[in-house]
Amino acid sequence: MNITLKGFGALPRTALRAALPLFGSATAVAAVAAVAAVTLVAPAPAHAAASSAADPALVQRGAYLAQLGDCAACHTAPKGKPFAGGLPMNTPMGRIYTTNITPDTQTGIGGYTEADFARALREGVAKDGHNLYPAMPYPSYAKVNDADVKALYAFFMHGVDPVQQANRETDIKWPLNMRWPLKFWNMAFLDKTAYRDKPGKDAAWNRGAYLAQGLGHCGSCHTPRGVAFQESALDESGSAFLSGALLDGWFASNLTGEHNAGLGRWSDEDLRAFLKTGANRHASAFGSMTSVINNSTQHMSDADVAAVSAYLKSLAPAGGNGASPYTYDPQATKVSLDRPANDAGARVYTAYCMHCHGVDGRGFAPMLAPLAGNPNLLAKDPSSLINVTLNGTEDLVINGVPSPFPMPGFAAVLDDQQIADVLSFVRAGWNNGAPAVGAAEVAKLRQSTRAAR
Ligand code: HEC
Ligand code: HEC
Ligand code: HEC
Repeated sequence: MNITLKGFGALPRTALRAALPLFGSATAVAAVAAVAAVTLVAPAPAHAAASSAADPALVQRGAYLAQLGDCAACHTAPKGKPFAGGLPMNTPMGRIYTTNITPDTQTGIGGYTEADFARALREGVAKDGHNLYPAMPYPSYAKVNDADVKALYAFFMHGVDPVQQANRETDIKWPLNMRWPLKFWNMAFLDKTAYRDKPGKDAAWNRGAYLAQGLGHCGSCHTPRGVAFQESALDESGSAFLSGALLDGWFASNLTGEHNAGLGRWSDEDLRAFLKTGANRHASAFGSMTSVINNSTQHMSDADVAAVSAYLKSLAPAGGNGASPYTYDPQATKVSLDRPANDAGARVYTAYCMHCHGVDGRGFAPMLAPLAGNPNLLAKDPSSLINVTLNGTEDLVINGVPSPFPMPGFAAVLDDQQIADVLSFVRAGWNNGAPAVGAAEVAKLRQSTRAAR
């Protein structure tokens, strides 16, 4: 769509940010629509890349960068052809579908020039000029440098098979389906400057920052969102950055140096093992992190894993509750496990959980996740724990091998109260000291989530 935004460029970002929650309101959008002239721009004919010869090394580098960016997680639907799109995604306004980014000229991005591709990736504008919803993480990809965009483009034009598959319309209803208000959103929240090395930091730290903030788009799940669904910080200069956030029924953990719910007790080696294999002595990947490990971080080179780890380990603690650092204590749990009749949660634990997670709560790491001292158990928000107990999790697949004993779902076996009881038990047990879980919270997630397998 072609809209003149004359005059608006001068508006201060703060004023725009204050006004943006209004776009949640249908009346406001409709009112502005009435005064805007909206015309469609005809797509330009092009077979942009077809003519230029592929440089195999560049294509291969682009394939690696596409893994770092986890493009497949969204653009390849389950059982779908690679990068042909069609995966449904929930947004606050309704359901949208990822698009076909194979080089098919009719239904994919075969007609995109490198400049068109760069604009879609970093500014969230498709070739025909329409704005993309920020469900496509372009606010993060904005940090990607020109050389990497070039390699990604070479990969999508020459390393991906063209697939003819038309894109699906969003389920968002008029007037919220109008995309031009996103131009205002972008003015307020999109920072178009590519990542610049921070002076005083070494090369590994800067590489890690570039990957975590940019292609890795870790913040799109791990950073809390503001009133207009924007990430409330895009780098470590904001204390909310990567401090943990709820998205789509999963609470993406606190990745700062906080010592209980965050990564403060993890060594650099623990963190590298988690990113490479999805598990370590503290925890295992599950929920929406599973596809990040499966499609993206396990493929990182050792140098890149080390860089991301060095960067995350440098993040100042944020989001803690002031409790002293966790230390293991089996005592209280032992007592209740000895007399399970007294404790509804202990009864469920001994019957359904103990053979995998252990009498001592330490599991059989890294194969079977420990619950004692696990940062996700200690976090205030229990959504991920409820979700994984109800639904289990998708298989973690490392080097092509699925995990042998994945977490089963208990939605059909345990009722809301039993799940609340057992989670309250493990959140209090082994000195975890985290708040109890209520049956109403379980009931709510039972409604809004479904089995992972
Ligand atoms: C978290 C999910 C997600 C990830 C990860 C993601 N995308 Fe997207 N992408 C989307 C969605 C959703 C759309 C469509 C948005 C819309 O219709 O407004 C989209 C649209 C696009 C478009 C515009 C194409 C068109 O025809 O509309 C391009 C190009 C694109 N993505 C490239 C990429 C590349 C390259 C990567 C990896 C570096 C990537 N995307 C990663 C969700 C994602
Ligand atoms: C699609 C959403 C999503 C994205 C993108 C994402 N994560 Fe996660 N991540 C989660 C969720 C949900 C959890 C909690 C479940 C778990 O522990 O596996 C998590 C957990 C983690 C944990 C384990 C923390 C703990 O205390 O157990 C680490 C480490 C982590 N993520 C690192 C990263 C890094 C680094 C990136 C970017 C390269 C990233 N994540 C991108 C959703 C995401
Ligand atoms: C068959 C073995 C098995 C059983 C039985 C089992 N779990 Fe799990 N659980 C796992 C595995 C494995 C993981 C790590 C995620 C994965 O790889 O699937 C996990 C993960 C978890 C997590 C997330 C831990 C983290 O890393 O943050 C919680 C919470 C949990 N289980 C609770 C329970 C509860 C409560 C029960 C009993 C109602 C239970 N589990 C029964 C195997 C099991």
